[in-house]
Amino acid sequence: MNDANIDFYRRIGADKLRQIAALQGLESAPEIPLLMPYLENSSLVVEIGAGYGRIVKALRDNGYQGKIIAQERCPELSQVLRESCQDKAEIFEADIKRELYPRKPDVFLWMWSGILEFTPQEQQEVLIQLYKHLQPNGILVVEIPREIRYVGKPVDERKIVVEADWGRLEAYLPSEEELIDYARKAGFAHKETIHYQTTTGLKRSMYIFGKSFCPEQEKGHKSENVVA
Ligand SMILES: C[S@@+](CC[C@H](N)C(=O)[O-])C[C@H]1O[C@@H](n2cnc3c(N)ncnc32)[C@H](O)[C@@H]1O
Repeated sequence: MNDANIDFYRRIGADKLRQIAALQGLESAPEIPLLMPYLENSSLVVEIGAGYGRIVKALRDNGYQGKIIAQERCPELSQVLRESCQDKAEIFEADIKRELYPRKPDVFLWMWSGILEFTPQEQQEVLIQLYKHLQPNGILVVEIPREIRYVGKPVDERKIVVEADWGRLEAYLPSEEELIDYARKAGFAHKETIHYQTTTGLKRSMYIFGKSFCPEQEKGHKSENVVA
């Protein structure tokens, strides 16, 4: 599913993506001030799927001084990031399913529904890789909606389709139980959930998962609970 979604982003362009962020009340990044206390001791943040740079800019505007890696797989959006965020972050053009930034970060940020664009199996697999790659005391932040409005139509309780002039995007919204379960199977401890509302009143949540070091999981996830 994630591979099939790439054309949606190759064709959308930064302006349209910015308009959708505005429609959802995310353009001014209201979630970032709430996250800043969790970033205090971090020196390296990797943002997964950095889009047009909304989060990178908000991190700098809110005073984050560590290194930021803006990971983005879409060549067109990576170019936008190079043009607009080069002074704020290192741009790492790579697919999160296939390549991780060589240095282990203190924080992975997976914002604005990024995880939804993966099947449940892909969601589990990526969380396992992120766990293995984080610094021992690192955190993973996963941001998801608690309601679907403005963008996308629910096909059933969990599946969402976005049909637009420039393409189609399929998404799967994990329930809170599923998300926490993926994280636990990967080795994470669920530290906290931050519920918040966007500037247009959408209800959304950020899940903070902490890496609680477990040598078994570092070796290769032999636990029978883990989806390979
Ligand atoms: C909804 S946008 C979020 C953009 C940004 N994180 C924000 O909060 O404003 C999702 C982004 O994830 C990127 N993306 C999707 N799948 C990816 C993957 N496998 N690896 C890296 N980036 C990916 C898309 O190209 C898109 O830019």
